[in-house]
Amino acid sequence: MQNRSMKMLGASAALVLGLTACSGGGAGSDEGDGGGDAAPEDMTVGVAMPTQTYERWLNDGASVEEGLEELGYTADLQFADDDIPTQQQQIDQMITQEYDALIIASIDGSALTSQLDAAAAADIPVISYDRLLTNSENVDFYVTFDNFAVGQEQARALLYGLGVLDENFEEAEDAPEETLNVELFAGSLDDNNARFFWDGAMDILEPYIEDGTLAVPSGQTTIEQAATQRWEQETAQERMENLITSDYRGSDAELDGVLSPADPLSRGIINALRSAGMGDDIESGLPIVTGQDAEIASVSLIAEGVQHSTIFKDTRNLADEAVNAADAFLNGEEPEANDTESYDNGSAVIPSYLLPVEMILEENYEEILVESDFYTEEQVESGQQ
Ligand code: BGC
Repeated sequence: MQNRSMKMLGASAALVLGLTACSGGGAGSDEGDGGGDAAPEDMTVGVAMPTQTYERWLNDGASVEEGLEELGYTADLQFADDDIPTQQQQIDQMITQEYDALIIASIDGSALTSQLDAAAAADIPVISYDRLLTNSENVDFYVTFDNFAVGQEQARALLYGLGVLDENFEEAEDAPEETLNVELFAGSLDDNNARFFWDGAMDILEPYIEDGTLAVPSGQTTIEQAATQRWEQETAQERMENLITSDYRGSDAELDGVLSPADPLSRGIINALRSAGMGDDIESGLPIVTGQDAEIASVSLIAEGVQHSTIFKDTRNLADEAVNAADAFLNGEEPEANDTESYDNGSAVIPSYLLPVEMILEENYEEILVESDFYTEEQVESGQQ
């Protein structure tokens, strides 16, 4: 509102000035002087996404593209097959073609510094999408979710599934007395988010590990030990199989839960647990497994009592924020940040817009995902979008 009336004021002031100065040249015919002279129809925004193997990035890409096109911009959406040189090349080309803004979800957040330098030299605003672009001052804005909260919610969901916390996420009165065994998985170390997820989860889990409520029989409790390079499902599945062989098979230790940071990894982990005869669903003894992204296949498993939880991040809203930020820059304005402290990328603290996250369980997926039209009940039943 304020912006609009200021713009109008600017336009009429220009008109008055134009009239009194009797200048030709159309002074005042311009709507405000926001900085962007070109119309959206004449502008292209490059959208670089990491991979098509994760459902979320397909959804993100489609939503960003749609949002930009609704405002009249041309969008060039590219996926990089999780290959760093491919993503570098795609962005190089976007810069060579003089695109007007870039929205980038990186594979390795630190691998694009020369592209970011080139974008800055060409005056192309860069919006870091979901994953922080690191080691460069040339990042204009960051849109993401509250990534620390993602990890905290994953840990709370795990504790709830194990019976340590009750349905209000307070200490359960009838909590199990014996020590519960868990194993921990982390994401890809070149993705800045992986550390936020891990730190958030450990913030909640550490006290329970320290007081003996939880044990990690493998002893693998550092992010480096738990990491999953490039977030690959097979890597997580293999690590789970190895952990079962080395720490559970032929021993008395029973596995009660697994902290998993993303749904595809969760499904790989569940495959390993099921093949090792650890139960088909939670009721028949399958360990409690967490997740992230509310991918349809995992939501379906949650509805069936197999995967215990996931974290929903409404990517429709993230896409909107990215589109709004691009639109602001292209109109010569600054997008509005709601966090100017948390995301230091090693060269600068990047003004950020953080969105909230929600824990999904068997008891609330309908309310949060179906009633908000994120999925239909049929999709949940079939496990397909
Ligand atoms: C995203 C997660 C996603 C993971 C793997 C992270 O950067 O925030 O939503 O599950 O990458 O693609």
